[in-house]
Amino acid sequence: MSKRVTRNWHVPRGSEMTELDKKVLGFQNRGCLVPKRELIKTPEQIEGIRRSGEINTGVLDLVEKEIRAGMSTADIDKLVYDYTTAHGAIPAPLNYEGFPKSVCTSINEVVCHGIPNENEILCEGDIINVDVSTIYEGYFSDASRMFIIGQTSPEKERLVRVTKECLEIGMQAAKPWGFLGEVGKAIERHARKNGYSVVRELCGHGVGLAFHEDPEVDHYNTHKQGMLLVPGMVFTIEPMINMGERYVFIDEADGWTVVTEDELPSAQWEHTFVVTESGLEILTH
Ligand code: MF3
Ligand code: CO
Repeated sequence: MSKRVTRNWHVPRGSEMTELDKKVLGFQNRGCLVPKRELIKTPEQIEGIRRSGEINTGVLDLVEKEIRAGMSTADIDKLVYDYTTAHGAIPAPLNYEGFPKSVCTSINEVVCHGIPNENEILCEGDIINVDVSTIYEGYFSDASRMFIIGQTSPEKERLVRVTKECLEIGMQAAKPWGFLGEVGKAIERHARKNGYSVVRELCGHGVGLAFHEDPEVDHYNTHKQGMLLVPGMVFTIEPMINMGERYVFIDEADGWTVVTEDELPSAQWEHTFVVTESGLEILTH
């Protein structure tokens, strides 16, 4: 049987072949999965995504300053909406595929995509992921952090810390002219070593000119090489790590909220990155 090669990289008719084109085509001709040429951002586009990321970081810094026990997740949503719009930007989640709020707020056993609600009150000991995505002058950025409300258990504290390490280790595993499969491999190794599991149903993603672009970024070991990492690609890494088993379900009541099957806690950290000649650079610092 002949192996099917996806020929993503096309040099537009009439445009001259660059050194980059030659290099990528070399990989493609050897059967590697390469990105579409359109996924490579120009320096101007990268600067646009970086400016979007600066507002996104401002939102997360504000939430970090204000978040406390007794606050509702709807209060967080209001902080996000007000800050974002005051800076001339748009919260990307708002009305995205019907999502009703400006931010995702995911507490304890909620893995991701929790919907802010005025009746949901933060309690001492909760761990919460606040996932913020911003559109500014047409450019998208996406990042999330965990927050611990007051004092929590050593178990939950360790989950939050190890999940952050998973993001950092995933970032370090991504090398220009290396392959995306290394990211998930490194993340899963670290999660397992700590007795945790990795959610498979949700992934990181290309981002920048749209909320979700190619490639899909798996956070577990797929045993595949994955896509070639070419300087100028922009994507998120956003591992969801479970204290217990990896299995999750979607709450039927709202069609969004992703929850762990065993109801044990889950954590997530996320950044938007650009591939440079030396590694990944964070655009959501
Ligand atoms: N911010 C999420 C991500 O990291 C996407 C959430 S979609 C939404 O990809 F509609 F729930 F906001
Ligand atoms: Co994302």
